[in-house]
Amino acid sequence: MTGFTVALVLVVAAAGLLRWRRPAWYWLAFGVTLATLRVLVRYGSVMDACGLTVPPARWRLALARATNRPMPESRPPRILRLRPTRTGLVLRLKLRPGQDAFDIAAASDRLRHSFSMYGVTSRELRSGVVELRMTGYDVLKRVQMPAATETRPMRVPVALRQDGSVHYRDYRDYRAIPHALTLGATESGKSVYQRNLVAGLAPMEVALVGIDCKQGVELFPLARRFSALADNPDTAAELLDALVARMADVYQLIRAQQRITVDVPDAEIAADIWDLPDELRPTPIVVLVDEVAELALFASREEEKRRDRIITALVRLAQLGRAAGIYLEICGQRFGSELGKGITMLRAQLTGRTAHRVNDETSANMAFGDISPDAVLAAIQIPAEMRGIAIAGDSSGGWHRIRAPHTSLRQAVNLCNRHADRTPDLPELAPFRPALAGPAAAPVPPVKPSPATA
Ligand SMILES: Nc1ncnc2c1ncn2[C@@H]1O[C@H](COP(=O)(O)OP(=O)(O)OP(=O)(O)O)[C@@H](O)[C@H]1O
Ligand SMILES: [Mg+2]
Repeated sequence: MTGFTVALVLVVAAAGLLRWRRPAWYWLAFGVTLATLRVLVRYGSVMDACGLTVPPARWRLALARATNRPMPESRPPRILRLRPTRTGLVLRLKLRPGQDAFDIAAASDRLRHSFSMYGVTSRELRSGVVELRMTGYDVLKRVQMPAATETRPMRVPVALRQDGSVHYRDYRDYRAIPHALTLGATESGKSVYQRNLVAGLAPMEVALVGIDCKQGVELFPLARRFSALADNPDTAAELLDALVARMADVYQLIRAQQRITVDVPDAEIAADIWDLPDELRPTPIVVLVDEVAELALFASREEEKRRDRIITALVRLAQLGRAAGIYLEICGQRFGSELGKGITMLRAQLTGRTAHRVNDETSANMAFGDISPDAVLAAIQIPAEMRGIAIAGDSSGGWHRIRAPHTSLRQAVNLCNRHADRTPDLPELAPFRPALAGPAAAPVPPVKPSPATA
């Protein structure tokens, strides 16, 4: 008997320790079973208490009356499926007549408390069927991406969503999010997000082009996987012009391949690079721009001309680039009309929006003001101590809280070096190919160390 008690105490202590230090392991070891039992046992009474039941059908009442049986009770939505996952439970419900998906969404906070889960979100799958995604612990506190993710060309698993699912950056999405904008105050996690994107794209058949006006500190260490890099606005202007020229060439190629005749089926007429045969298809290019405001600021006439040239090129790439396989990924602290003409026009083309922590509502409005007021509010509420948390939305108004895994620069460098042989040599961008010098050859900047460190 004492042996049993000791074992029980040990198991409870281990469970408590795991729950505190390693919530993900606790969930897999104990949480998932306990939560499944709790949901199944309490389901009827919780739904009743949350006002999610409907009175029995009239024919049941009539039948009960006729047969002198006890009156049937109110019925909750029927459980179609209960699926445990790595981070929580997924409950698929069939709504009863008279209920709608909004009822469930409005009750999600009450359900969260009643089932003792960390988070509950709901979404409509199809008419009459709603999916409740519950998480057992705060999955964004320590992001662990699942080992197996759905991989497809040009689709990168870049972060984890609050409901435990994977957030993908899909350049060939059917909802068409070819270009994206990432905003956030300084030290909010923009560059780490972008680094994850580079790490995800590195193993794919894609050319990476970087413009990093922070003197290249973020992207130049990853140079071996980049086909072209620019670390100042002058080079950036030339690089963007080269990309616009390439875009024109790709359109010429697509036109040459179209040859629309009566016997070519509709589906085979090429309208973008993905319709071209594999051997002819130009390599798609992802253009990553960090600290975009640096490209839009100017202090002299000369610089103003350069700035206009850069913004015009970016607008043209954003408007026409998708079909030519050129995708923009722009990061900055703010991106609004105060940066001058052309900026709001460019922003309108950047469909995907991600906002990290922002310091004021205006910055959040730059990301979501024209899409969803809820997302603006969510972006302002991101706590300062949770760096890397972001709100990701798209032009359809849907949004999610996400956090990218904390990929260190070293991990990203190693990954880029491992896939360096995949870096395509694009002749148009050859002048911007980074010189691959070792660390010793890098020029030392003329900055004096402070006396404390000297
Ligand atoms: N997803 C994350 N998970 C954990 N920590 C993170 C995450 N993202 C960022 N951080 C932390 O925040 C720090 C700042 O991140 P990052 O350099 O990406 O900020 P930034 O928004 O690019 O800032 P700046 O505008 O100054 O360039 C990182 O060094 C890292 O310690
Ligand atoms: Mg940065």
